Amino acid sequence: MKVAIACDHAAFRLKEAIRAHLEEQGVSYRDFGIYDAGEKRDYPYASLYACRAIQSGECELGIVLCGTGVGVSMAANKMPGIRAACCGDSFSAQYTRAHNNANVLCMGERVIGEGLACQLVDLFLSTPFEGGRHARRVAQIEALEKGELE
Ligand code: RB5
Repeated sequence: MKVAIACDHAAFRLKEAIRAHLEEQGVSYRDFGIYDAGEKRDYPYASLYACRAIQSGECELGIVLCGTGVGVSMAANKMPGIRAACCGDSFSAQYTRAHNNANVLCMGERVIGEGLACQLVDLFLSTPFEGGRHARRVAQIEALEKGELE
């Protein structure tokens, strides 16, 4: 499993902390930047680059970060096939995988600390989708995306 990770300029430190955590855990990842604390990037581009790698199949899951986590999640959810969840608590990070089959975890550097963020990453990456009745609902999201939900 390979994880796409990206951030805007408001979340560089958090991205680096999570990247170090992924290294420690031996999780394979691709870093879509930014790569320097002085670099500027608007948050929709963080979503674009990480989520493209999920759409192409290069990466299975993504972690996209900005100041609040909200902007990157809004942008990511405009991309077909992307189910991004902005999380700041462990229950949501776990159950958005189990029930929504979320493929992108969004978090905000100005909202949560590095320790909690890494814990949410671990839960998100280790929780499988439960399927069953939840698969029907995720299919409804996909139909909604195509304008086919009646
Ligand atoms: C950037 O200043 C900030 O607006 C952005 O990181 C994010 O919080 C938007 O949702």
